[in-house]
Amino acid sequence: MRTVRARAELRQCLIEPRRRGESIGLVPTMGDFHGGHLSLIRAARRSCDVVVVTLFVNPTQFGAGEDFESYPRDETRDLAVAEKEGVDLFFAPPAEEVYPAGFTTAVEVLGLTEVLCGAPELRGPEHFRGVTTVVAKLLNIVQPDVAFFGQKDAQQAIVIRRMVRDLDFPVRTEVLPTVREPDGLAMSSRNRYLTDEERRRATALHRALSAAAEVAGGGERSVEPVLAAARAELREAGVEPEYLEARDAEDLTPAESLNGRPVLVALAARVGRARLIDNTLIGG
Ligand code: PAJ
Repeated sequence: MRTVRARAELRQCLIEPRRRGESIGLVPTMGDFHGGHLSLIRAARRSCDVVVVTLFVNPTQFGAGEDFESYPRDETRDLAVAEKEGVDLFFAPPAEEVYPAGFTTAVEVLGLTEVLCGAPELRGPEHFRGVTTVVAKLLNIVQPDVAFFGQKDAQQAIVIRRMVRDLDFPVRTEVLPTVREPDGLAMSSRNRYLTDEERRRATALHRALSAAAEVAGGGERSVEPVLAAARAELREAGVEPEYLEARDAEDLTPAESLNGRPVLVALAARVGRARLIDNTLIGG
C-alpha cells in the first residue's frame, strides 16, 4: 500500500493501472475506521483491481459548533487497517491540498439538501454542500470506475447519486447496507462520544426503526401508524428525535402512503453529546 498526500502524485499513481485497463474503486472516508468503513473497503477490494481509500476530515461539512476539532482522528491505526485490508492507495491529503488558497467553488445539489439533516435548524444545506464539493473533487482527482458509500448516511448517498447523475460524473455509485453492532446500533465514529448509559439508550434508534418496519411489514399502508410505532420506542427509552420522517427514497419528498415507491424512514436524535442518525427502507 502506498500513502499519498498530494493530488498530483495520486494522479500519477493511477496512470499506469488505467492504461492497463484496470478498474479503480474509490472509498471516501473521514477515517476512524469501523465495520461500516471496512464493509465498503472490502466491497471495493472484491470488485475492483485498484482500491483507493481517502481519509480527509472535511472542514466544510462541519457547521459552527459541530465536532470538527474533536472528531476522532487516528491515522496510524487507519493506515494499518487499510494495509491489512489490501488497499492499494491511501490518500490522506492536508487541508491545503484539498482547499488551496483561493479556492472558492462549491457544488450544491438543490431540492434534497434542505430536509432531514439539511433542515436549517439542524445541519443546514451547507453540510451537504461541503460533502458534495469534496466528493466532486475526490471523484475528479481519482476518476474511479466505482465509488462506494454507506446506506447509514442515506441522505448523503441520495444527494451524491443525484450529483453524479446531474453532472455526468463517469462513475458508478454503490451503496452498501448499514453495518451494526450486535445490539443493532449503527456503527459510527460518533458512537465514541457515548457514555455507557447513553450507549444503552442509543439502541432505541434501531429498535424504533425495526418497530416501524414491522408495522409496515404487517401490511399497514399509511405512514402515520408506522411512525407512531417508532415514536413509541423512542419515548420508552427517553430519546427525543430531532426528526423522524417517512420520505420517498429517491427524491426525499414526504411519503404519503406505503403503497408504491420505496420509502425511507429516517431518524436523527441527540444522545448525550452525540448526534446519531439511522434509517430503514420500506417497500419498493
Ligand atoms: P465517514 O463518516 O467516514 O463515512 C465514510 C463512508 O462510510 C460513508 O459512505 C458512510 O455512509 C459509510 N458508513 C459510515 N458508517 C457506516 C455503517 N455503519 N455502515 C455502512 N456504511 C457506513 O461520510 C463521510 O465520511 C463523509 O461525509 C465523506 C463521504 C467521506 C465526505 O467527506
